[in-house]
Amino acid sequence: MTDPFHDPRFFSDPYSTYDRLRSASPVQKIPTGSRGHHAYLVTGHAEARLAFADPRLSKDTARFFADRPSRRNIHPAVSRNMLASDPPHHTRQRAVAAPMFTTGRIVEMRPYISGVVDRLLDGWTPGAEVDLVEELAVPLPVTVICELLGVPESDRAMVSRWSNDLFDAGDPDVIDAASHAIGDYMTHLVEAARETPGDGLLHALLQRSEAGLLAQDEVTSLAVLLLVAGHETTTHFIGNSVLALLQHPSSFARLQQDPELIAGCLDELLRFDSPVGIATFRFSTEGLRLGGVDIPAGFPVLIAPGAANRDPAAFPEPQRLDLDRNAGGHLAFGHGIHRCLGAPLARAEAEIALRAIVTRFPGMHLAIAPEDLAWRHTRLMRGLKSLPVVLR
Ligand code: HEM
Repeated sequence: MTDPFHDPRFFSDPYSTYDRLRSASPVQKIPTGSRGHHAYLVTGHAEARLAFADPRLSKDTARFFADRPSRRNIHPAVSRNMLASDPPHHTRQRAVAAPMFTTGRIVEMRPYISGVVDRLLDGWTPGAEVDLVEELAVPLPVTVICELLGVPESDRAMVSRWSNDLFDAGDPDVIDAASHAIGDYMTHLVEAARETPGDGLLHALLQRSEAGLLAQDEVTSLAVLLLVAGHETTTHFIGNSVLALLQHPSSFARLQQDPELIAGCLDELLRFDSPVGIATFRFSTEGLRLGGVDIPAGFPVLIAPGAANRDPAAFPEPQRLDLDRNAGGHLAFGHGIHRCLGAPLARAEAEIALRAIVTRFPGMHLAIAPEDLAWRHTRLMRGLKSLPVVLR
């Protein structure tokens, strides 16, 4: 078998590859890259849920690479963070960050999010063609997370570019450089917040650090994690959701008639075309058996929410967008102790953006044929490079 993610067609249609792999076995050993490395890929829903919650699968990337020489040079504030750690380090950091992202906290942010959406859409005129990714799906999450972290407006485009480079599985040197740019930038921003009083998120994290709950470098790495984790993912949630609705006009029409339905459809939209195709790195610390397959100690395990959410054993007729479906069991936000911290924020942003689109541009349609859409070439993310639409 060759690396299944090497084929460029995978990015425009990952689902036929996922289906083929899952039908063969919900867990299987696959080659990754060209240097003879292997990983175990989890494509079944039940198996993915188990894997996300299995303490024998470690997220501690530094531990995995401790005895494996790597030529990579990722800034430590990017490579070592809460998402790349196990209990008890993870538990402590998560307890500090969690109260800042509760559904209640996010409710308070809704007016701000609506204001950003309105400002972005105010420039859109009926009859015009716009790139919905560039003009809404990218700037909305960047603006919101940068506002939370206190990143000045003039720096946001630059920060967004670094984050983009970090995820585009291209040239390792470019990724390493972007990690240093973001790591250094956030180190300075945290220093500046320490010098000036304020009530933003960084100040709240610094207070927890002074109380001994977070190490100084954890403040920076948590801030970097929030910046990058909340950014591309939400972009693709919005882009993929709008595309799904444009390709299912009766569903789009239903939401126009009753925008109150949008909040209840977000899970199905997340399931149908999940922004995170394959979750972040984890590895087996001891041998385990999953989906009838023995995974020896010391192997990377790739859990694919994109595949699990199309598993017919969990969701009948998974390839059908069905706004009435109970899709609550989807794994788009992961599961277990690392389940997405920003889920309430991502939902609020997508809901407000979709509501604005269906009410302000009810006749919106695709400006190009679906097969001409350009998808990002990263196996972590599933998302569009651009989404040209005509406004009506
Ligand atoms: C639709 C948008 C989003 C999706 C699909 C998504 C998806 C995910 C997934 C799958 C994980 C778990 C990864 C794993 O276990 O390998 C995760 C973790 C995380 N996400 Fe999100 N995310 C989204 C938006 C956000 C936002 C807006 C924020 C923050 C502002 C955020 C912050 C985080 C953090 C901090 C973690 C790590 C949690 C931990 O280690 O305990 N995410 N996300």
